[in-house]
Amino acid sequence: MSAEKLQYIVSVDVYNTAKQLPADEQTLLQQATKIMHAAYAPYSNFKVGAAVLLENGKVITGNNQENAAYPSGMCAERVAIFYAGAQHPDIAIKTIAVTCEAEAEQPVTPCGACRQAIAEYEQRHNKKIKLIMATPTGKVFCTNGIETLLPFMFSSKYLKK
Ligand code: THU
Repeated sequence: MSAEKLQYIVSVDVYNTAKQLPADEQTLLQQATKIMHAAYAPYSNFKVGAAVLLENGKVITGNNQENAAYPSGMCAERVAIFYAGAQHPDIAIKTIAVTCEAEAEQPVTPCGACRQAIAEYEQRHNKKIKLIMATPTGKVFCTNGIETLLPFMFSSKYLKK
């Protein structure tokens, strides 16, 4: 018996360099890069920076914070997102820029847990978030809405009210 196929269209805009982005997005990426250098990553030596642009124009930045007890550390994206949620609970996130130190062709993409945290923020404010993923010298990937990176996501709609 053949199964019915449920397919997601994954659409990512790819730019060869960050210079092709609009000026405000280049600035956000620069803010992510600046905070990346201050990351605390003595165990992985992999520094990541994230810059979160809120709907009111405010920018919150964060970087990865590691720990000798490895799982106690936190990714750059969630450091920034949770700070935004704590300080500005009523303001939606418009854009998140994320970058890492590695000289890689492929940009850094948020881990599964960070994708889930971004999904929660989208649902909380009923607003899709634009994600800009980069490395300092490589290509830049842009997506509009976390569903591209997290199809079939878990959400509050499964929870009994
Ligand atoms: N990391 C991030 O901060 N964001 C990502 O998108 C990927 C991974 C961090 C977690 C850890 O401190 C280090 O990078 C290596 O996994």
